Amino acid sequence: MSKVSIIVGLQWGDEGKGKIADFLSGDYDIIARFQGGANAGHTVKVGGKEYIFHQVPSGLLRGGKVGVLGAGMVIDIIALVEELRQLEGVDYDLIIDERAHLVLPYHRVQDARQEESGRGVGSTRKGISQAYRDKYARFGIRAGSLLDEHVLKEELRRSYEFNARYFTVNLDFDELYDILLAESREIGNFIGDAVSYLKDAVEGGKKVLMEGAQGALLDIDFGTYPYVTSSHTISGGALVGLGFPWKRVDEVIGVFKAYTTRVGKGPFPTELVDETGNQIREKGGEYGATTGRPRRVGWLDLVALRYSVWINGVDYLVMTKLDVLFGFPEIKVAVGYRLHGMEIDWFPASSHRLAHVEPVYRTFSGFDDLDGAREFISFIEEHLGVPVKIISYGMDRDKTIVL
Ligand code: IMP
Repeated sequence: MSKVSIIVGLQWGDEGKGKIADFLSGDYDIIARFQGGANAGHTVKVGGKEYIFHQVPSGLLRGGKVGVLGAGMVIDIIALVEELRQLEGVDYDLIIDERAHLVLPYHRVQDARQEESGRGVGSTRKGISQAYRDKYARFGIRAGSLLDEHVLKEELRRSYEFNARYFTVNLDFDELYDILLAESREIGNFIGDAVSYLKDAVEGGKKVLMEGAQGALLDIDFGTYPYVTSSHTISGGALVGLGFPWKRVDEVIGVFKAYTTRVGKGPFPTELVDETGNQIREKGGEYGATTGRPRRVGWLDLVALRYSVWINGVDYLVMTKLDVLFGFPEIKVAVGYRLHGMEIDWFPASSHRLAHVEPVYRTFSGFDDLDGAREFISFIEEHLGVPVKIISYGMDRDKTIVL
């Protein structure tokens, strides 16, 4: 019997989806990414060895799986070729949807320049927003174009001229064309129609795990705009990003960290800029997998999570990094906000308003193990109205329990 699950992050990314997708992937035949690109960073530790994936779905490491890079993604093929080297010796297959857009070297240069000018949002500098900009301006290049030299040349010319005219390009046209041609020889065999592939797979009884990158609060529309990424990170993004019918989805799994982190600029109501915050950052190893930047750290925010649970239609929750909170004398959880003297319990749409809220906390006494955390976990489940089914309390695969 086929089974289709969507796994998404409920906060600002880095919830540990990669580890959970890897943990769950044993049950699935196909792991499909539906948005984003090399801005994501999934660290997976297996048998003492650490792997970092940016574009490749993390569960592929197990072997015998098919990875899908969906139409909603923006793919840096130069980086992808590098990444696939980590999978040498692993038995896997990959399908890059012909409709997925390409991140070109000049997108990365433009992203970096924007950040250096101080006018960026604190991006990962991977050229993500620039590639989506070209896609929506209808000057993008799709992966399928790599399969035909003439089409590629024509489309690249159009896109290159658009970029050279309004933005910055770092390579000359022929150099860029040659690079793309060389890379396309390496990955050309993986490019195909992922929509028909998934249709046949699901109709043939295969199991599919759709893996989101980043988190709901970084969604282009439903996140803390403009401090967001440029794609739909919520579960609905899986449908548009893979051309997949909602009726065939069985469940949505929402992953959240037992506290909150955020990388880059933007409002963060429960942020801790004190010693407790530093301790959580160090203990949790809260440094970006993609950029190495220290992550901003704060208490768990149930106002934000309740919003995320709704917009994603979460069926069950996965809590990660609970062990990081072990040993603290007390643990706080935001259960409401105060805004201009009024209490609110819904996550504001406006980042300006969010920047002015003050969290209303509920305080728990500290705990040192899973048993001690029971009250904390039950409180979260009751508040969100969704069960916590999996808890992760360490990086290794075996530091995960299913309740
Ligand atoms: P971009 O996606 O590189 O354009 O970055 C836009 C915003 O999303 C920045 O605040 C980034 O720090 C954040 N971001 C992008 N990818 C991730 C991720 O995988 N984890 C956490 N934050 C991310």
